[in-house]
Amino acid sequence: MRLTLLRQAAFFPTRGRLAAVVRNFKQFSARRRNPLKRDGPLGMTRRMRRAHILGVAHYVPSRVVTNEDLSKIMPTSDDWIFQRSGIRERRFIEHSGIGASDLAVPACKQAVERAGRDLADVDAIVFATLSPDVMFPGSGVLLQNKLGLESVPALDVRNQCSGFLYGLSVANAWVQSGAYDNVLVVGSEVHSTGLDFTERGRAVAVLFGDGAGAALVGVSPDPEKGIRSVKLHSDGSGAEELWIPAPMSKNEPRITHEMLDQGLQYPHMNGKQVFRWAVEKMPEVAREVLADTGLTVADIDVFVPHQANLRINQFVAAALDIPEHKVVNNIGRFGNTTAATIPIGLSEAFEAGKLENATVLSAAFGSGYTWAGALIRF
Ligand code: UT7
Repeated sequence: MRLTLLRQAAFFPTRGRLAAVVRNFKQFSARRRNPLKRDGPLGMTRRMRRAHILGVAHYVPSRVVTNEDLSKIMPTSDDWIFQRSGIRERRFIEHSGIGASDLAVPACKQAVERAGRDLADVDAIVFATLSPDVMFPGSGVLLQNKLGLESVPALDVRNQCSGFLYGLSVANAWVQSGAYDNVLVVGSEVHSTGLDFTERGRAVAVLFGDGAGAALVGVSPDPEKGIRSVKLHSDGSGAEELWIPAPMSKNEPRITHEMLDQGLQYPHMNGKQVFRWAVEKMPEVAREVLADTGLTVADIDVFVPHQANLRINQFVAAALDIPEHKVVNNIGRFGNTTAATIPIGLSEAFEAGKLENATVLSAAFGSGYTWAGALIRF
């Protein structure tokens, strides 16, 4: 009976309801005319905000570790590492006691400065890392405290190599919706304290480096510029192809001497399988953001791919038909810094003057599996 009444009410609108229908129709037509306009509460119309990367910066520790250095502590060679990955050297923290949140501090300060803002303007943090300072709390709150930001929210993102783009998507939505005005998106990693520098772990240990990158995401002063699209994906069927199995909360105790002896506290990777997925999924998600924005590869000025392996990036660029001079590759100097690779790449592109009026494409693939793409107009 109640259902019937509801249906009748919907079918025979009252005057008030009719007015609402007309109002909704007018608002719908206005939105179609101007997709940037959205209606706020009480019928007030406000412009939907476009989010943008207002400033980007990076920080890497000063300690340079070359392939030659690694070959002194385990059976490997500059030739093997460079031929397979394109890496010549990476940065490691100078001494024990420096966490992902510490590396993030200078990157964040400079990103805010480059955006022409003050730290006091930051009203939220999104911190992407797979190497948090401690198991809990997240590195976001540690960074919040180190930056002296009074009680701003700090969200931790655990999406590994795609973490920065996952974080960017959150900041984009927050800024667009008006929830926050200036969001720090951080990718920061300390890998060097957790790698297996023996023959058993050499296929993975030679790839990773420490470093941090940060972007201040805020309201774009020009609606034509800013974050145009971010696309995210995951497939957990690949979780065990690249992971650190221990310590694990599903086991009691979470870690045992036996697990330590087996090296389960170190990253384990099925390199060939991860490589195959990366060269398939990165072009796929790049094409997805291009289709979403109505742009083509010819419109792209700069391509900032995740830095897992130079060979992967060469495959991806070739698959997308992006010429080499448009691709930012710095893996040779920094190795794979997972969540930090993309903000470091963006920051170096900024420093080289490449971001000015540039249309920038980015894509990442990594542990999870997770993969993501973004298109940003500077
Ligand atoms: O950001 C996260 C996403 N990660 C990736 O996308 C990484 C994707 N995978 C890769 O980049 C490649 O698989 C690697 C660079 C990690 C490895 O290259 P690979 O051609 O798959 O090498 P492999 O692991 O199959 O090893 C080949 C050989 C083996 O020796 P045998 O069995 O052929 O005698 C390894 O034991 O190379 C040996 N090897 C090494 N030799 C010298 C493995 N690591 C090393 C090393 N130095 N560091």
